[in-house]
Amino acid sequence: AVFTLIFSLLMAVNVMSCLAEEKTYINGIDANFPPFAFVDKEGNPDGFDVAVINWIAKDMGFKVKHQPMDWDGIIPSLKAKKIDMIASGMSITEARKKEVNFTLPYWKISQVLVAKADSDLTPETAMSEGKKIGVQRGTTEAKWIEENLIKGQGKKFELVYYDSAPLAIEDVINGRIVAAAMDDAPAQDAVKKKPVKILGGFGMPEEEFGYAVRKEDTELLNTLNEGLKKIMASPEWESLQVKYELK
Ligand code: ARG
Repeated sequence: AVFTLIFSLLMAVNVMSCLAEEKTYINGIDANFPPFAFVDKEGNPDGFDVAVINWIAKDMGFKVKHQPMDWDGIIPSLKAKKIDMIASGMSITEARKKEVNFTLPYWKISQVLVAKADSDLTPETAMSEGKKIGVQRGTTEAKWIEENLIKGQGKKFELVYYDSAPLAIEDVINGRIVAAAMDDAPAQDAVKKKPVKILGGFGMPEEEFGYAVRKEDTELLNTLNEGLKKIMASPEWESLQVKYELK
């Protein structure tokens, strides 16, 4: 009986230390980037990226908390250690690679203009003198449009900045702006839910999404890469795309 007792105690301690060893990472998300990341009606983080990270966490043995925050300050928050990763529809770019490390790419994305469903504009006529075009602050599309279309080609439309893609969509619907530029995935999501349509692309090259971590966090980077490879090779990858209407 004494041995059984000692044995059970040892087992309990063992189980407890195993549990205690699981690290908890905080994932910073944009709460308004459906279907990749959003907060549902009950206030719970949800979306394709949230589900992928939850799967990887379970598979690779770590805990994760999803922290909704402003997109514009998300890389500074990562560097300041307020969060440990960004899994929230972020394009891999050379400029961002100077500040953070990215996992392998997991999604191809292209850029489109969204206008009212009854609009007769084309991307060309929408992005012309006197027109207002919305864009999310801190995005690659904002930067690309400023540099290439406004500075580069001297186009005279006005760029209006928003904290999220859905906020820009609201102003498209109420007519404050004629169109909003964004990734095709949130655009297609908006088309399903709102009286808007996609006008087409505006010449910005295709990009790829990846998950970002701090430069020095190579262990987490390796874990995420290994987990990504596993989920992308599993049937779950396809199921999650269907669940979040990405295909
Ligand atoms: N492609 C853009 C970028 O990476 C838009 C991303 C928007 N993602 C988001 N979670 N708000 O800058």
